[in-house]
Amino acid sequence: MEKEKLLFYNEYEEFYEMAETSIAFQRFCFDSFGQDFSQDGFSDIEQIDMILPYIPTVGDVHILDVGCGNGKMLGYLQKRTGAFIHGFDYSQKAITNARAQFTRNADFNQGIIGEIEYPNNSFDVVVSMDTMYFSKDMSAFVGQIKRWLKPDGTLFAGYQEGELVPRTIDEYTTELANALKNNRMNFEVKNITEQTYELLKTKRDAAIIHKAEFENEGHKQWFDMLMVQTEWAEEPYQVFEKAMARYIYIARK
Ligand SMILES: C[S@@+](CC[C@H](N)C(=O)[O-])C[C@H]1O[C@@H](n2cnc3c(N)ncnc32)[C@H](O)[C@@H]1O
Repeated sequence: MEKEKLLFYNEYEEFYEMAETSIAFQRFCFDSFGQDFSQDGFSDIEQIDMILPYIPTVGDVHILDVGCGNGKMLGYLQKRTGAFIHGFDYSQKAITNARAQFTRNADFNQGIIGEIEYPNNSFDVVVSMDTMYFSKDMSAFVGQIKRWLKPDGTLFAGYQEGELVPRTIDEYTTELANALKNNRMNFEVKNITEQTYELLKTKRDAAIIHKAEFENEGHKQWFDMLMVQTEWAEEPYQVFEKAMARYIYIARK
């Protein structure tokens, strides 16, 4: 599949170019999420720290990030656990940045969900924040991840409904929940919709604080994008939660 024809490919190339060079965006991420991982979503440091207990601290530990962007989140997890880090993303720009920045015990590949392959039983943890929706066949992709996991491995996924995929009834009716069930993966799931609404407000406030810096850098269009992304913060929670939901899935092989 030609990557240029995939959803948002060109937008992500531009996004990761901006994320690498914009001090305003780096400050915005820090203020919004508690750490700058060049987030394009809602992965704040609280959510990322929830992964830590699932990463073994002894042995030959390998973790994979699906949709790793420029690898900063993996860099943080490596610093905290010493794990060997693997990441893939379809963005050439993001992977070039990741390779330049993280050179020790790290393996970054440009790859497309559903096309890239890893050997069976490779990873202790597979992480995917705000990326599972880009798979054309969620069940097949979850099946692939299951094969990639070591026998007692864990899939940790941040998953949002209401934007790229429609809102369903609850955390047990999402496309991801169905894919986990189809693949006989036991899972627990945390509903973090309320925290996400608060995070939306924090994101909006942080963007506004750094507005002049975005403009001075010539990055006004990214400030505008953040305003559009956080429009829901202007609505009451009751309206937001009818349209949007966010969950963390923790699934066992
Ligand atoms: C919403 S962003 C999330 C990025 C990061 N995980 C985070 O939490 O901020 C989605 C990521 O998936 C990548 N992506 C989108 N479609 C993809 C595909 N079909 N194959 C591989 N990567 C893809 C994008 O380049 C981007 O880095």
